[in-house]
Amino acid sequence: MSGTAADPTRNVLADPESLQAFAADRVCEIIRAAAERRGVCRISLSGGSTPKGLYRRLADRDLPWEKTHWFWGDERNVAADDPDSNARMVREALLDHVPVPPANVHPVPVDPDSPAAAAEAYEATLREAFGDSPWPDWDLALLGMGDDAHTASLFPGTAAIDRRDRWFLENWVEKLDTYRYTLTAPAINSGREIWFLVAGEGKREAYRLVTGPTRDPHRYPAQTIRPTRWLVTADVLGDHRPGDGPRED
Ligand code: 6PG
Repeated sequence: MSGTAADPTRNVLADPESLQAFAADRVCEIIRAAAERRGVCRISLSGGSTPKGLYRRLADRDLPWEKTHWFWGDERNVAADDPDSNARMVREALLDHVPVPPANVHPVPVDPDSPAAAAEAYEATLREAFGDSPWPDWDLALLGMGDDAHTASLFPGTAAIDRRDRWFLENWVEKLDTYRYTLTAPAINSGREIWFLVAGEGKREAYRLVTGPTRDPHRYPAQTIRPTRWLVTADVLGDHRPGDGPRED
């Protein structure tokens, strides 16, 4: 089990490949346990390059695919076959290679011309999937973190950071000059397990600020999240020598 939101576990791995392999083993444990205990496992997926290797590793595991449902924690405002689509990335890395029932795959119904309507439609999908839960109690919410301390598509200075009345929103991102789609912070924090996957020296400063004493969620949106586990590579911390083995703090 991971730690708690109040006291998250931190796993320090030597490199991205080790992080992805370690994470894949832990994800399989969560899926099997949820399927066994509750008959269903619901996962919120992250975009980005770090989790891609994790998704690839899940493709050759023997899992209860019929009991696992896949959702996206955020998406780009592009068609499903666009190279930038998170849905396309996950399908190519994982879902196209496993016997998951199509009904268990829940991509964001992106509509570049009407992002607000698309976000409302996805929120309705989420609310239907989670029944009468006040917030989505993900079995696992996977998150990356950008070098600007964004997570999901909660980017610095954007309106979605403060929203507590919605599960899922369109979010105008000025610096990208585009809309994104994202879970809100409360709709992530309601998860049973909430993991950050952070790899590479380029994330060191963002990690230091996000986990440091200065609280400024508008500048460091990842601070809105209460993770149960951090999975980081040694170079994110800067104090862990590559020769060191995995470490759990
Ligand atoms: C996305 C993500 C985003 C990502 C971070 C980190 O749609 O891009 O969901 O939040 O997780 O940008 O991405 P990397 O892991 O590629 O650095």
